[in-house]
Amino acid sequence: MNKLSISGYGDDLQINDIRLGDLSPKEHEKIETNKGGQNYSPLEDVVVSHVKDSSTLICRKPTTNEIENYIEEELLDGLCCYSAVNQGQLNQTIVDAVIHHLVEEKIPTVPRSIRHKYMSGFLLASTAFTEMDRVVPKVAGVESWELTFKLCRRWGYEVKKIPANKAIIVGATNNFHGRSMAATSMSDDPDTRNNFGPFIPGIELVPFNDYDALEELFKKKGEYIAAFSVEPIQGEAGVIIPDEDYWPKVAKLCKKHNILLAFDEVQTGFGRTGKNFAHQLYNVKPDIMGCGKAAGGGILPVSFVAGRDDVVGVLTPGSEGSTFGGYPLASVVGIYAIKTLIDEKLADNASTRGAQLIAGLNNIKSEFPDKIKEVRGKGLLTAFEMHNATHLDGHKVSVGLLNRGIYAKETHHSTVRLAPALTIKEAQINILLNAIHDVIKNI
Ligand SMILES: Cc1ncc(COP(=O)(O)O)c(C=O)c1O
Repeated sequence: MNKLSISGYGDDLQINDIRLGDLSPKEHEKIETNKGGQNYSPLEDVVVSHVKDSSTLICRKPTTNEIENYIEEELLDGLCCYSAVNQGQLNQTIVDAVIHHLVEEKIPTVPRSIRHKYMSGFLLASTAFTEMDRVVPKVAGVESWELTFKLCRRWGYEVKKIPANKAIIVGATNNFHGRSMAATSMSDDPDTRNNFGPFIPGIELVPFNDYDALEELFKKKGEYIAAFSVEPIQGEAGVIIPDEDYWPKVAKLCKKHNILLAFDEVQTGFGRTGKNFAHQLYNVKPDIMGCGKAAGGGILPVSFVAGRDDVVGVLTPGSEGSTFGGYPLASVVGIYAIKTLIDEKLADNASTRGAQLIAGLNNIKSEFPDKIKEVRGKGLLTAFEMHNATHLDGHKVSVGLLNRGIYAKETHHSTVRLAPALTIKEAQINILLNAIHDVIKNI
């Protein structure tokens, strides 16, 4: 190894002779281009530095000034890490809990092969919050979905008695469940799948929000189907909201065929849609669900599976595990992520501020009906879709918003998703709407 010296914190963090505080946005980009995997295309000419308040980031942009490498500007966070920061950036209650447990309580790092006291707290809080019998902690969002997939298969064989290796998991078209091999196998997006085959068998897709297609498939292959595994509202697909009666009808159909309803609430959970979980909007209850993102309070990656006794109950020692899933600090963060959501009434705020945002977006649509085709949203999971035209380019809108101090990002060519922190204030929603109005007017 060549000489490697590491020192300092923040801007003074120095790797050999390179000090982070000295790098221009272009230099950051060059390091990522040369030394990282090219699996993202981040917004150009902007680097986030630190947090100003729960919805405001300080970022660095290029400058023509000869002396400094960048200028710093405020950026209203319209995405909050794809709903991982529902509780707001650096939520004080969660930060205090982390610091207190690290410094005062001398919290250990131990694996699950020895009990630690914080696991009990996490299980008590998470089962009460989800109103489920059992919870199994994981780390990334995709891992919670992956574990629901495994549990549904095992339940299919051991409880439903599907013949060996014949189990089918049904998903929805345009789904997004993460980047594992099972999630990639379920995806129907060519960019996601290209050259990653062979794929995991036993997966079938039906169009999202198409009850008849699901009923037909259940009639044809119901005895082999273990679960319908699906997002209650499709986030990455552009905030696709099903008909109001879709989930109640699907829940009944699943019961009729003894098929599990497995929800992926990684993006829609933890208050995002105006309820603690999106399924509560529709008065249905899944048999099992995966949670992630805001389960870690915007501080740590924390995810978990929550489910019915007989479904999660199929796990046996050795069939599942995770070194960092539910380790003591993750358990504390998980507990405080839930506490914050309840104490700060964040689902209610998502409902109120979401209504304000959606009404504002609809006003912009009314003013520019030739540009905006549709506004969609539940709580603070919202998006607007533009008509299909080259100049109505979601990326251009994102760049336009960035130039007006807003961070939002397109999903697909013509849709822009807005999912700010659930702590967002009325005045900040107005700032967001004014910027969108300006960009749409000028596009
Ligand atoms: C519905 C859904 N499931 C799973 C995931 C994957 O989560 P992670 O990126 O934390 O693995 C995401 C991420 O956006 C998601 O939206």
